[in-house]
Amino acid sequence: MKKTLVTALLGAALSMAATGDLMAQTTLRIFTGGQQRPDVMKQIVDVYMQRNPGVKVEVEVGGATSEQQQQYLNTVLASRDSTLDVVLIDVIRPAQWAAAQWAEPLDSYLGAEKDATMARYVAAYREANIVNGKVIALPYFADAQFLYYRKDLFEKHGVQPPKTWTELRDGLKKIMDAEKNPNLSGFQTAGAPIEGTVCTYLVPLWELGGQLTDASGKLTLTGETARKPFDLWGDLKSSGVLPSNIAEIVTDRMRQNYQAGNLISTMNWGYVWNRVENDADSVVKGKTGVVPMPAYEAGKSATCIGGWQLAVTAFSKNKAEAVKLVRFLSSPEVSKMQAILASHMPVFPEVYTDPEVLKANPWFKDALPVVQTARSRPVTPRYNEVSEIIRTNMNAFLAGTKTADAALSDMQSRLTPIFK
Ligand code: GLC
Repeated sequence: MKKTLVTALLGAALSMAATGDLMAQTTLRIFTGGQQRPDVMKQIVDVYMQRNPGVKVEVEVGGATSEQQQQYLNTVLASRDSTLDVVLIDVIRPAQWAAAQWAEPLDSYLGAEKDATMARYVAAYREANIVNGKVIALPYFADAQFLYYRKDLFEKHGVQPPKTWTELRDGLKKIMDAEKNPNLSGFQTAGAPIEGTVCTYLVPLWELGGQLTDASGKLTLTGETARKPFDLWGDLKSSGVLPSNIAEIVTDRMRQNYQAGNLISTMNWGYVWNRVENDADSVVKGKTGVVPMPAYEAGKSATCIGGWQLAVTAFSKNKAEAVKLVRFLSSPEVSKMQAILASHMPVFPEVYTDPEVLKANPWFKDALPVVQTARSRPVTPRYNEVSEIIRTNMNAFLAGTKTADAALSDMQSRLTPIFK
């Protein structure tokens, strides 16, 4: 009798195991942002769970913008909360994460494979994720800013894709004057006090040969060059090419405006392509061109390097399993899946030339050199402050509440003690 009961219990246990109930011993929780295609991450994670029946992965979705996500994470991590095992972090953050000791360094897990693993990534991502010799995170997808433009409208009005800001302004004015559509905005870049607005300032600065700091890390934001980005955006705003509400514009809003047919061109990131070409509500499918950003002088284009990295938190209770998941998410296989499903730019050079990737994103054929030469926002553990100083002053200028001189001098006086 007893024996039969034991056998019955054992049988039940075995059949539960077969359905996965008993085998799901580890639950991992990964945090991602609303704009980083959590739906695609869920599809990828499903593949991982099929291959690893002992692991369950939950995806937590945070705010849409980079600084909103980090604000939330500051609170969670400052209290050494162990609920998150893996966090998707912006490329600007590894230095801060390393200094705060929020990330579990991955060196010992990578072991003898460390150098070979890191060598495969596009150089900028290898460099961004190694802080003081330690691997703080592994890259998930690359990013850079490009000019998205309505190829159909440019062709209709005989306008060439612009190589300079003057060509952009004049070409857009021509199209806007001829279209006479009051809802059609010419150009948008991030102008709200969000992370993307840091790049709105830096891209023109870099194109002019300016830099925030010199090689020793001292602030070099002086003179005419430092002021010219304000003049550029001021000119585009007064000519009506930038909309009057530019100071309210966040990244994903530009994408929405564009795919609703209300925007001719935008400085935006890789993810926009997939949404514009595939979203049910996009009215501009097949009508978009993507080229490097215009510059003051043709050929002197610059762009911010962007992208998202996978860090294992220092407080995770499942670090070894979390690292395994991260290594999968940071593999060429997943890079390719993301490129096809989300136009997330690959972190492996060879994925850019994969035929299926190119079929989904024909413009990737010219995109790798842009990513390879894209510039980094300043690398410092105090990046939160740096970002806040630049984006709020740029925003105040765009809103018309500060003059260019006042915004620049406030930027200089607050940045000087950080970069001294
Ligand atoms: C994109 C980039 C990221 C950048 C952000 C700013 O998500 O990948 O690096 O900070 O946009 O809006």
